Amino acid sequence: MLLGLFHWLNERLFLEMTDRSPLQEAFEKAGQGHVFRYFDELEPEERSRLIDQASEVDLKELENLVLEHIKGQKKAGLGTGNLEPARYIASPKKRGDTAVWAEAEMQGAEALRAGRVAAFTVAGGQGTRLGFDGPKGTFPITPVRGKPLFRVFAEKILATARHYKVAIPWFIMTSEANHIQTIVFFRENGFFGLEENGVHFFKQGRMPAVDFDGKILLETQGAIAMSPDGHGGSLRALVRSGALEIMRKAGIDIISYFQVDNPLLMPLDPAFIGFHLERESEMSSKMVGKTDPGEKVGVFCLRGDQLEVIEYSDLPVNLSQERESSGQLRYLAGSIAIHLISREFAQRAGGDDPSYRLPFHRAEKKVACVDSGGATVNPQSPNGVKFEMFVFDALRFAKNPLVVETLREEEFSPVKNATGVDSAQSCSDDMLRQWVRWLEAAGVDIQTDETGLSGISFEISPLFADSEKAFLEKWKSLALKPPIVEGFYLE
Ligand code: UTP
Repeated sequence: MLLGLFHWLNERLFLEMTDRSPLQEAFEKAGQGHVFRYFDELEPEERSRLIDQASEVDLKELENLVLEHIKGQKKAGLGTGNLEPARYIASPKKRGDTAVWAEAEMQGAEALRAGRVAAFTVAGGQGTRLGFDGPKGTFPITPVRGKPLFRVFAEKILATARHYKVAIPWFIMTSEANHIQTIVFFRENGFFGLEENGVHFFKQGRMPAVDFDGKILLETQGAIAMSPDGHGGSLRALVRSGALEIMRKAGIDIISYFQVDNPLLMPLDPAFIGFHLERESEMSSKMVGKTDPGEKVGVFCLRGDQLEVIEYSDLPVNLSQERESSGQLRYLAGSIAIHLISREFAQRAGGDDPSYRLPFHRAEKKVACVDSGGATVNPQSPNGVKFEMFVFDALRFAKNPLVVETLREEEFSPVKNATGVDSAQSCSDDMLRQWVRWLEAAGVDIQTDETGLSGISFEISPLFADSEKAFLEKWKSLALKPPIVEGFYLE
């Protein structure tokens, strides 16, 4: 009976669609009618999936993007003529004022204790460079236990929640492609000890990929090649998913934003939160000093009194090479994608007000798509353009944006590539180096190479200690110190 009804409904749908539905007409009018080229040959489920996908596409927005980014009518950018390096609050381990930092830490701790802060991970990326089959957050990263990235963050959040005796909700942005797998992973792992109802998943938006003539690419005969709309899509996804509303009801006004690929960071840093509140910033960012002019990170710059991140490829070489008399790079402040965002600002920047709209950036990519014969092919070189928003573009709309220095060895070791620089190996080594430094600070003698890497592998859980300060206290309190041997694990 039910099955009969289902077929009847699909049949109706088919009739409506073959009757040149308004959707199909709109696509034809926009010069994208080919999206429905194979429609009549599709199975009913494929047809309804294609209709769902097509309904997601904002044809007007796409037309503008094609005009701007493909047809060469790109508005002249803001240029880089009047840039100056951004100011930042220096780390107390560099030349920062320890008393000022201690004060900020106290303020931030108070906000954490009052339950005003939520953790927010953007995990909707495709992780193509890593080439891992599954959501990146499920990638095993720690040196001994092989804990996945999600577990490392979960334990850090849990450690902070226990420390401040408060529930800290965790919002995780996924994408259409990894949403279900991510949730299943958390379920299978008992939410890593977190309260299930304190972890919120929501999907980001998608954008169609187009070819170099601006035509939407079909991934298969019945599916548009859609991809996530970039980490900048997190702002509108926070609004659209209702996540901000959940936060508002829970009395949360500070969102601690970080990426899924950098397990070294502190997801909830009291001093950073304190500065953010003290300066009444709507969006604060952490920076690390660039290692060399060519390092591929965006740089915080001032344009007049407006703070921006200039992508490494857009910063003129002569500027990137300028140095202070001390020899330090002038354009030093590298962006590491750690931000604090005020909830009200996210509401504005992710809402419908066009004056807050984040720009889309163009990226040429290899996009699997159907060839003229209708078969899906994987191209060997870029054949299309994807459109993505970047979260740091919201800085230009924020009041009192703030940059705070952190140390690379303490907070930045992203897992981007399968091997080499910024890979799982380099990240796991950096974790080990951090724990070596903690042990050394506690007076333990460990053999290391010249990079500070020990000959043995071991692991310290964030549940034992999530910072050097916490480690020193905990270690001191241990009546029986564990032997530092290959594979030892502290929790
Ligand atoms: P990357 O820019 O490194 O992209 O994302 P990626 O998709 O993970 O990896 P590649 O470029 O395909 O190799 C930085 C962070 O932003 C998130 C990622 O999950 C990662 O945490 N991100 C990126 C999103 O959440 N959505 C996106 O659309 C893009």
